[in-house]
Amino acid sequence: MRGTTLDVCLSALDHPDALGDTLRPAIEALLAQAGVSLYDIQQRAWTMPLIHLRSAFEVGDLPETPTTFIPVPDAESTVAARACAIACLAALNSDTISYGSENDGHLFVNLVPFPGEGEMAEKSKGSMRGHTDAVYFPVRGQVHELDDRIAPSPDFVCLSGLRNPDQTATTVMPLSDVLRQLSQDDIEELVKPQYVIRPQKTFTSGLKLIFGNRSPLARPMEGIQLLFEAGDGYWIRYSHSASDSDYDSAAATSAAKRFEQACLACSTAVVIAPGDILIVNNRLGLHGRGVVGGEAGGTSRWLLRTYGLDTRELNPAQRYPDSPYKLFP
Ligand SMILES: [Fe+2]
Repeated sequence: MRGTTLDVCLSALDHPDALGDTLRPAIEALLAQAGVSLYDIQQRAWTMPLIHLRSAFEVGDLPETPTTFIPVPDAESTVAARACAIACLAALNSDTISYGSENDGHLFVNLVPFPGEGEMAEKSKGSMRGHTDAVYFPVRGQVHELDDRIAPSPDFVCLSGLRNPDQTATTVMPLSDVLRQLSQDDIEELVKPQYVIRPQKTFTSGLKLIFGNRSPLARPMEGIQLLFEAGDGYWIRYSHSASDSDYDSAAATSAAKRFEQACLACSTAVVIAPGDILIVNNRLGLHGRGVVGGEAGGTSRWLLRTYGLDTRELNPAQRYPDSPYKLFP
């Protein structure tokens, strides 16, 4: 960013794929000096569900913490936070992406406490149980149950820290640890397509806008598989809606409940400090967080979130023609 105007930096963020290509060689060279290859890092990102980079970017003067998901205020520190996230994801062979149905397709959103009393405001300050993001969308390599234009959920969730005055923890539950607590019978139940998943709150209004209020694509979806055999392990697609239901089969219900309990037992905590980046593998782990609390605005907790996905297998119908990063729906 040195010697470049803020406007030029901002327009670079509109083309994350090109920016990633520009920044990646410098990262690769620095890693090589430390005797580490990009391949080593990529292997690790697909073995361990979290990478915590401390002081990855500089946080200088910041505006007040925003009180809405969008827009991200344009300031040097938020540009650095965004460019750094794009560079990290590019180093993992991931494109930085958004979905048109969530927060109007913005590439980065503020994770902050919201003002007022409504459900969203409460949710923004409360703790969160373990889940995977964009759970309504299929895992990469699978076609959506109802519409093949629907892009996969992200491979990675990337969080950049701007403020965290109360050291609120982000929690990550490694899938391999969780599964070690379960019986083979429970694992076999979770692999069967017999669960129910609802779109997460941030997607509901966008999905209704795109597909219409009466579309099955804005409603809970049945016949969902939670666990997928992948390579020598498993991938996960999970939100509590899966364990909050009772299913026809008692074995299905109790496997989901035991999975939820095992997640609580396997939770690790990370505090994202200003300048830190946390990359969570959305296939190999679940994430949540502790209570945020506090007041909206001012100097309250402020993270930026974006997503990473290997987009090489996507077809054109899974993108919006007017955007280099926005995926359908
Ligand atoms: Fe999440």
